[in-house]
Amino acid sequence: MKVLEPRAYHKMPKEVLRGEKVKSYKKCLKQIKGIYKYGNESNLDPNTVVYEVYSYTEGEKEKEGNLFWGLTVMKPVYINGECNMTRGHFHEDTNCAEFYFGLQGEGLLLLMNKKGKTWAEKIYKGSIHHIDGEIAHRIVNTCDEELMVGACWPTTAGHNYKEIEDRDFNYRVFKNDSEVEFLKR
Ligand SMILES: [Fe+2]
Repeated sequence: MKVLEPRAYHKMPKEVLRGEKVKSYKKCLKQIKGIYKYGNESNLDPNTVVYEVYSYTEGEKEKEGNLFWGLTVMKPVYINGECNMTRGHFHEDTNCAEFYFGLQGEGLLLLMNKKGKTWAEKIYKGSIHHIDGEIAHRIVNTCDEELMVGACWPTTAGHNYKEIEDRDFNYRVFKNDSEVEFLKR
């Protein structure tokens, strides 16, 4: 019998996702516009990488029931005091739920329903987060090391960023003298 190496592997918790079919991209500060309270101009170099995203799947993305495995690495940077965060999104197909799980560091998973009600779950090594398909989600790094968050979600979920651009999460997260502070929008 032929025994194969796995087609991708994830050396949890401190390594990124690797494999021939793993896709990844990096976002730097100058590419992130319109999400920070005071804009993206700060004392940081505009080319500073703020997060990295990795994903892996096999087969057809359009196939109902297929899944992505993924990883987001949030750098420990503050933009005019505001904690580093992802853009955040709803799923285009609101039937599609998602799992997030903490691998390294500490942060918050900001969650928002369609009515704008916003709350958060703590992310830390070993935390598991089930995200209902109708709930918007954004990762926030509140610690001073890289926050690594794994994910598994249907390939047909899609990303709806527009709805967040039109109506953002109700709270922003800042850090002042090592204290996390929430600012209501
Ligand atoms: Fe998602």
